Amino acid sequence: MVVMDTRSRPLRALRLSVTDRCNFRCPYCMPREVFGADYPFLDRKEILRFEEIERLAAIFALQGVQKVRLTGGEPLLRKGLPDLVARLARITGLEDLALTTNGALLQELAKPLKEAGLQRLTVSLDTLDPARFRKLCDTEIPLSRVLSGLVAARSAGFGPIKLNCVLQRSINEDEILDLARFAREEGHILRFIEFMDVGTRNGWKLDAVVPADEVLAKLSELGAIEPIPEPLNGRVVERWRYCDGSAEFGVIASVTKAFCGGCDRARLSAEGSLYTCLFAGSGLDLKAALRNGSSDAEIGAMITNVWKRREDRYSELRSSRTGGAPKVEMFHIGG
Ligand code: GTP
Ligand code: 5AD
Ligand code: SF4
Ligand code: SF4
Repeated sequence: MVVMDTRSRPLRALRLSVTDRCNFRCPYCMPREVFGADYPFLDRKEILRFEEIERLAAIFALQGVQKVRLTGGEPLLRKGLPDLVARLARITGLEDLALTTNGALLQELAKPLKEAGLQRLTVSLDTLDPARFRKLCDTEIPLSRVLSGLVAARSAGFGPIKLNCVLQRSINEDEILDLARFAREEGHILRFIEFMDVGTRNGWKLDAVVPADEVLAKLSELGAIEPIPEPLNGRVVERWRYCDGSAEFGVIASVTKAFCGGCDRARLSAEGSLYTCLFAGSGLDLKAALRNGSSDAEIGAMITNVWKRREDRYSELRSSRTGGAPKVEMFHIGG
């Protein structure tokens, strides 16, 4: 089954947040002034149980979803995560099971996650400088934990690991080449992400965005580069490689070259609300349906009805928008 939205975009991918908590406080996502010790994170009873996530994922698969990516907050903070992965790995129709993490707990969890059936891993890495890392991630956990997490992930058998680097003007733009060299030497696929105006609390300014074209120009200092030709469908990343075949990398130009045209991603928050855009203001409460005795068919119909009405294309409209409509926060739906 394929469900299309009003712009003929199929529902193919689901980003599934398993917790709203995080052990980092990156200022562009969870600034500590807002997300302090007394911040009211979701209570255990409010977040979906594994059986509920499994049931919903199976219902999404019946509506055409083929790819699931686990996100957070920081997904590895969710207790028993490998058990959830094992449940999801058994669902018919889900061909791709991936996870995005900050890497801090990978050393312990890479192997159990791989054994449970996780196929692909993305790790966020904005800097290679230990002091800058402490500032950018606002955490006591050292950069070395993330780096040893990457080593553990590779030994656990994960193929090329994707690295996500959010660039900010005058903050870490001076590390483009160092990060690129590191990724090339270690065999990781590095993607530079343009800083986005997700949520309402990260102090985003257009001036802080380092445009993808500028990043590509900088990277060509390491050798000739060329784009990897690919169909555009549902693609977030512009894939590139060094002409000498030494590595692949990418840019995610969500600000300067919006990619809403092929956006096939739905997002489920940890408390079970369905969002049809990263910049949505509100979601559809599927937890209520799960807990009030609705059938799989009824929940499936709720999902397809929302998708059929979907018009979202925030990034394409960004430049023409003014004012601050309420938006969901990044940590809530995992990017
Ligand atoms: P796969 O296709 O599953 O390999 O993932 P990916 O390469 O698309 O990467 P991922 O889903 O991890 O996306 C990387 C980053 O791109 C996210 O963390 C976001 O910052 C950004 N991103 C992903 N999806 C969207 C989207 O739908 N809209 C916008 N504006 N940004 C997105
Ligand atoms: N702009 C761009 N990327 C962001 N991420 C978090 N907040 C933002 C933002 N405002 C990235 C994280 C992580 C992924 C889930 O999203 O660095 O790699
Ligand atoms: Fe945590 Fe990722 Fe947000 Fe940083 S960007 S605070 S690691 S969820
Ligand atoms: Fe999809 Fe919304 Fe991102 Fe556009 S802005 S690509 S519609 S999530």
